[in-house]
Amino acid sequence: MIEIRDLHKSFADKKVLQGVDLELASGQTTTIIGGSGSGKSVLFKHIIGLMKPDSGSILVDGKDITQVKESDLYRMVDKFGLVFQSGALFDSMTVGKNVAFGIKKQKGMTPADIDAIIEDSLTQVGLTDARSLLPAELSGGMKKRVAIARVIARKPQIIMYDEPTTGLDPIMADIINDLIIKISGNKEITSIVITHDMVSAYKISDKIAVLFEGRIVETGSPEEIRNTQNPVVRQFIEGKAEGPIKIW
Ligand SMILES: Nc1ncnc2c1ncn2[C@@H]1O[C@H](COP(=O)(O)OP(=O)(O)O)[C@@H](O)[C@H]1O
Ligand SMILES: [Mg+2]
Repeated sequence: MIEIRDLHKSFADKKVLQGVDLELASGQTTTIIGGSGSGKSVLFKHIIGLMKPDSGSILVDGKDITQVKESDLYRMVDKFGLVFQSGALFDSMTVGKNVAFGIKKQKGMTPADIDAIIEDSLTQVGLTDARSLLPAELSGGMKKRVAIARVIARKPQIIMYDEPTTGLDPIMADIINDLIIKISGNKEITSIVITHDMVSAYKISDKIAVLFEGRIVETGSPEEIRNTQNPVVRQFIEGKAEGPIKIW
């Protein structure tokens, strides 16, 4: 369980997070939606301890990640697997080596064990045949799947995805959605997805949280969000230029 309490963050005089309150239940998929520049990535960085808030707390399994000392931070961050928007693959390494890089090396692990994890992770994302290819030889959707395979190989408790479907065509986006659902089907994994893709949010989420003007203004199941009367949320999910959200 992750509990975000009254989180505030400003850059100079720009207030980005203005009292974010949100609970993310273990074993569930929570999607945080919000417009471009609404602070989604800033929130993401706070959850994994990469940014410190001005005030507020984030409890991860009861420990406040905003307050822990550095040595504990490493241990806490170890629970997370991060799928970055860009994929962040090593260009000079094959797909297999990229995935191997994700593995938490443990005492007594043999090369055969590592090989089995690489094979299993690539199988889960449907890329067994791509093992010896370089990132430059892959399509955008394949790169994203390799990035996901690298994260699965870590066997994390929590997986965070920043805009996993942005920039992909609708079919590839749907393949990624199905993959997120499949991975989170293992209820030991908590998934946090940050996106502005409503098709994806409706499909993959147990809970959707809407970030607007620095706060979570609404949370609910996909069905509840679909039927909301909140004008801000309606404008966002319907993609209307007219409404309470002012872009300029
Ligand atoms: N390190 C930083 N320094 C200054 N401003 C930042 C920094 N990171 C983000 N911001 C600002 O915070 C706002 C929210 O950014 P971001 O979280 O990246 O938005 P998005 O919802 O599109 O992911 C933007 O106005 C951005 O310019
Ligand atoms: Mg972002």
